[in-house]
Amino acid sequence: MEYWQKELETMPRPALEKLQTERLRETVARASAAPFYAEVFAREGITPESITSLRDLQKLPFTTKEDLRESYPYGMAAIPLEKCVRLHSSSGTTGNPTVVLHSQRDLDAWADQVARCMYMVGIRDTDVFQNTSGYGMFTGGLGFQYGAEKLGALTVPAAAGNSKRQIKFIMDFGTTSLHIIPSYAARLTEAMQEEGIDPVRDTKLRVICMGAEPHSEEQRRRIEKMLGVKAYNCFGMSEMNGPGVAFECTEQNGLHIWEDYVIAEIVDPETLEPMPEGEVGELVLTTLNREAMPLVRYRTRDLTCFLPGECACGRTHRRIARLRGRSDDMIIIKGVNIFPVQIEKILMQFGELGGNYLITLDTVNGSDELTVEVELNDLFTDDYSELQRLTKDIIHSLKNELLITPRLKLVARGSLPVSEGKAVRVKDFRKLI
Ligand code: COA
Ligand code: AMP
Ligand code: ZN
Repeated sequence: MEYWQKELETMPRPALEKLQTERLRETVARASAAPFYAEVFAREGITPESITSLRDLQKLPFTTKEDLRESYPYGMAAIPLEKCVRLHSSSGTTGNPTVVLHSQRDLDAWADQVARCMYMVGIRDTDVFQNTSGYGMFTGGLGFQYGAEKLGALTVPAAAGNSKRQIKFIMDFGTTSLHIIPSYAARLTEAMQEEGIDPVRDTKLRVICMGAEPHSEEQRRRIEKMLGVKAYNCFGMSEMNGPGVAFECTEQNGLHIWEDYVIAEIVDPETLEPMPEGEVGELVLTTLNREAMPLVRYRTRDLTCFLPGECACGRTHRRIARLRGRSDDMIIIKGVNIFPVQIEKILMQFGELGGNYLITLDTVNGSDELTVEVELNDLFTDDYSELQRLTKDIIHSLKNELLITPRLKLVARGSLPVSEGKAVRVKDFRKLI
């Protein structure tokens, strides 16, 4: 078995837990310099000395996405801004987005973490690695870019979109490995078939890193078959840098969560009490190795469980099961995270609209589609050109907010179902291959 960092990846549990305890104490010390944690820790009487064993983690308060939003933009910075070299920002539920800051040391550690994951699934410096993730603020872009470069692979920053060009790159550059989200893997396969290319016969593809949205074992197997590759589930989130938090090894039986980088807990989302091994709850993560913006007991809202037993690959870091969805109402479409309330916020800015709307997610020609149906209010015109102008304006505003292009249907007042009690705002009919 080959490892990127053998000593760390196969560290005996007692040594790993000792390392975690030391790093947790350092994390508390570092976090205390951030305005947000300075206040919380002072209120709760928490100091680095409060941490003498891993059990002391339980004394620390949880951090939520809401806390991140309220600390926008720099309230979570634990080092001076002149020592920060990168900022990633993603949409919050309403109001402020969230911000994650990185020092150069943080970025180097993140690249190492991603390189470790890629090496684990057999990607080497002899590979041509094409990244179909969005770049810019999407952390799957730069996250995989720096990881793949650190590994020494020939890296093609193709970015999202333009399937024809993706295919040309795959063919011309002899791409052997992709980072791709499952719904787009289905679309890309379809696009290849449209061009008469058989991905299994005509390409050199052999390994793909596939994550960013929930998918089943059956979907993975189908994508593997269609593309003629091994597909490995990769999990990450912007708040925890991005990709590289947990990744499958070649056993394809759960994702190793890198415990030298994070402490993982799984809690009941209602009571916040720890869940027994094997039972699904919300993943909570504490950064151990981040200096610009440490996060303590961050509630990810992602649902999963710890898998029991040791992994045949020899790595000692625990495994989590593939993600089962979320404990909030966030939806992921085309690899982009959306909260329904973001859509509502935009719709409510248009006086021509009533309050009733419906969001439908569907698969159209192999691609995710998001349709927003919204009722007009009584007073609005039925003039066609006015309606066209309104449609264009609403789509433009929604695209600016969501980063994807929705379809929009303006409908007469009273034509959408009125649900009793809590309105059902989202219907998901997507069929992932
Ligand atoms: N990754 C790569 N390409 C994607 C994609 C994805 N997740 N989702 C859609 N696309 C492709 C489409 O197939 C289409 O190309 P094609 O017509 O040549 O096949 C092109 O992008 C535009 O898609 P469309 O649905 O018309 O555009 P949109 O305005 O609704 O969405 C995207 C724009 C695709 C740029 C936006 O959804 C995006 O950036 N997605 C990627 C997010 C991401 O990388 N997430 C991972 C983070 S780790
Ligand atoms: P982002 O912050 O944009 O990178 O999105 C992170 C979120 O995407 C996570 O909190 C999960 O909800 C989801 N996600 C990322 N990777 C996976 C995966 N492998 N399986 C399921 N969901 C994922
Ligand atoms: Zn393993």
